[in-house]
Amino acid sequence: MTDGGRFVVLGPGHLQSLMAIERCSFTSPWSEGDFLYFFADGSSLCQGLVQSGELVAYALGYCEGQDFHLASLAVELESRRRGYASRLLQQLLLQAQRRGADRCTLEVRAANRAALMLYDKTGFRSLEVRTAHYSGPRDDGIIMERSIEIL
Ligand SMILES: CC(C)(COP(=O)(O)OP(=O)(O)OC[C@H]1O[C@@H](n2cnc3c(N)ncnc32)[C@H](O)[C@@H]1OP(=O)(O)O)[C@@H](O)C(=O)NCCC(=O)NCCS
Repeated sequence: MTDGGRFVVLGPGHLQSLMAIERCSFTSPWSEGDFLYFFADGSSLCQGLVQSGELVAYALGYCEGQDFHLASLAVELESRRRGYASRLLQQLLLQAQRRGADRCTLEVRAANRAALMLYDKTGFRSLEVRTAHYSGPRDDGIIMERSIEIL
């Protein structure tokens, strides 16, 4: 990462900043209710990265047995390509490992080149393609996984 930043556990107090990141990042953004559901769920891990007092990135997911599923990850538009997503992902995977997970799975749009490059660089491999899994716009979903036994 080119500059500092600190990790924070996300909660309802971050909703406004989260929604701003969400709206600039996805064609079908999550609602506030989606985030609140995650905050309330004991199997969830919700991490943010704060830079100069501003939330610039978030990542969240949930544990299911020994699997950790990365549900969403996004970086504020102006803060991309500074290593924030990689750093946040590593932090989240460490936490999942501490909770007993030994594998991380995720699903990504086939057209999302930036995310595919990020996941490739951080050790994920493609497992399966779900044809036309996404709508708005229609797209295939790629299921990816990586071991998190060693981080
Ligand atoms: C995908 C996303 C999270 C990447 O965040 P980021 O903080 O810019 O990623 P990093 O800086 O950690 O990038 C790590 C590596 O990923 C790859 N990468 C990231 N963005 C890329 C892009 N736009 N084009 C090509 N490769 C890219 C590069 O290999 C990069 O390493 P490098 O900068 O040394 O070349 C960000 O673009 C984003 O928020 N996109 C919108 C939301 C989204 O698609 N989330 C993923 C849903 S599955």
